[in-house]
Amino acid sequence: MINVIGLGYIGLPTALMMASHGVEVVGTDYNASLVATLNAGHTTFKEEGLDELFAEAAAAGIRFTTEYQVCGTYIVSVPTPYDKVDKKIDPSYVVSACRTVLGVAPQGAVLVIESTVSPNTIDRFVRPLLTEAGRQDVSLVHAPERIIPGNMVHELVHNNRTIGADDPEVGERVADLYASFCRGEIAITDIRTAEMTKVVENTFRAVNIAFANELAKVCRVGGMDVYEVIRIANKHPRVNILQPGPGVGGHCIPVDPWFLVGDYPETANFIRLALQTNFSMPEYVLRRAHEAMAERGIADPSRVGVYGLAYKEDVDDVRESPTLQLLGAQAEHLCGAPMRVYDPWVEADVVPNQVHSMSEFLDGLEMVIVMVGHSEIKGRPELFGDRILIDPRNVMGDGANVYKL
Ligand SMILES: NC(=O)c1ccc[n+]([C@@H]2O[C@H](COP(=O)([O-])OP(=O)(O)OC[C@H]3O[C@@H](n4cnc5c(N)ncnc54)[C@H](O)[C@@H]3O)[C@@H](O)[C@H]2O)c1
Repeated sequence: MINVIGLGYIGLPTALMMASHGVEVVGTDYNASLVATLNAGHTTFKEEGLDELFAEAAAAGIRFTTEYQVCGTYIVSVPTPYDKVDKKIDPSYVVSACRTVLGVAPQGAVLVIESTVSPNTIDRFVRPLLTEAGRQDVSLVHAPERIIPGNMVHELVHNNRTIGADDPEVGERVADLYASFCRGEIAITDIRTAEMTKVVENTFRAVNIAFANELAKVCRVGGMDVYEVIRIANKHPRVNILQPGPGVGGHCIPVDPWFLVGDYPETANFIRLALQTNFSMPEYVLRRAHEAMAERGIADPSRVGVYGLAYKEDVDDVRESPTLQLLGAQAEHLCGAPMRVYDPWVEADVVPNQVHSMSEFLDGLEMVIVMVGHSEIKGRPELFGDRILIDPRNVMGDGANVYKL
């Protein structure tokens, strides 16, 4: 039996995927209301294919509980935020979950940490727990997750994976477990290499996006079309620049690279600058909107709305969302009135002035900042009537009323 600890955006699909592929799975989360929702037969977030996967896993007998189980293998998938002051990883959730596992795990159990952790976290914070508890019989494994919200179910099956283990034989056994559903290649390595590899992957993307964002700013000053520049540059066989945008959100790309800055503050300068560049984008978009307002004679910010609150298209996750940063900048630096906000994916009330239908949103607006390119509006500027559009995602096409980055 496998006990998956932490049933959020990563733990839940992983647990469901294993259960629907013939593995006996119990999912554990200390959030009792989340467990009650799952036990009532409902998923806890929106994701393509998740409801179907949930039904398959339920039919296969998956169980959900707040209790840690006595079983041979544990998969820990709890949050790993960073400390906003010293930029280091906050390992407290992982430590707490692993400590509880060690209290119940039988002799010879395998403890797999899926949470993203900075290099050395397992040696510094988890291995000492085994010593403290006299549980050197427990094998440690790191199996970082790479899936992207919006395409999680597909990517769980098709992505390549990394398994870091002290003992390669245990690594092979855990790889076989993941191979129950994973058709990608599974690389087996040591724990520190697996930790570093995961953080490097997200740092690569953060740096590449920062480069694109800086190009957007340079092109704006120089009067060039950044999208055309990137499109043509990417025809070069060894160039692959990502797209600029209104900022980077979610639980991974704006978070994990800080682990390297926090642990290597003297060395990771380029990474720090990349993160700061990405973080500057929501306010850059807001300033662009204020310029457009001045140009079009719109004085009243209540005539301007923000479409999109999730951190990216077709998800309901608002963690580190660029829209939240933009609204914060509007309130703090530019002292503007609050803007109306709408996101069809986000049903919860997250910010003041949030409305829950497109018609209520558009009523009386002269300008819309399109922060997220959800499928329902992508390529369909007509849905916004003749309003002026600020389009930092480049999803509204060209037109006299469309302002790009
Ligand atoms: N969300 C992503 O897109 C993504 C992608 C790849 C990797 N990751 C990594 O996966 C890990 C989990 O991220 P997430 O997005 O699923 O987080 P999440 O916040 O959605 O879910 C974490 C869950 O763990 C539960 N939890 C916390 N401590 C617990 C404990 N001690 N015992 C039992 N339950 C506990 C919480 O109640 C919550 O339901 C993080 O390290 C993250 O960096 C996330």
